[in-house]
Amino acid sequence: MNIILIGFMGVGKSEVGKRAASRLGYNFLDTDELIEKIEGRKISEMFEKEGEKYFRDLETESLKTLVDFDDFVLATGGGIILREENVKLLHEIGKVILLTAATDTILSRIGSMKNRPLLEDGEKAQKIKEILQKRDPIYNSSADHKIDTTKKDVDSVAEEIIKYAKGQS
Ligand code: S3P
Repeated sequence: MNIILIGFMGVGKSEVGKRAASRLGYNFLDTDELIEKIEGRKISEMFEKEGEKYFRDLETESLKTLVDFDDFVLATGGGIILREENVKLLHEIGKVILLTAATDTILSRIGSMKNRPLLEDGEKAQKIKEILQKRDPIYNSSADHKIDTTKKDVDSVAEEIIKYAKGQS
């Protein structure tokens, strides 16, 4: 069985995913990391030089490579659900958990980081709200289970994931 974490930038998919994977004795994978490893460069450079579509194609390719593997927790890039094909692949791969957080929490977690190309133009809080508004319905309809991470630490979110995973196997 595999667990897939979806949700907006800054909700803690990678950190929480690593913690849950190590407690479950699962491997941890991250689509952003897989893509950066294969390409040998940063996502921000791909967005800058080739544009978003190039990166989105790589996201789809990275998911296709995972369908035959088992026992991992996968953290995904915040925009992975933008393609219907990806959402189908996610459900083929495993159980999909949506992590959410209040906009203020997201902002405080990613506020000063320079590695989110989609948040580089304009005021960050406004940008986050705009993107979230568009994506929220897709996040919600793509999820088998939802966890609000606002005001929760990494351990307690990881615990909730583990509880859900154990209930599924
Ligand atoms: C993106 C989120 C990023 C990364 C890319 C695009 C998005 O991943 O995939 O910058 O469209 O929301 P994180 O959610 O891990 O920050």
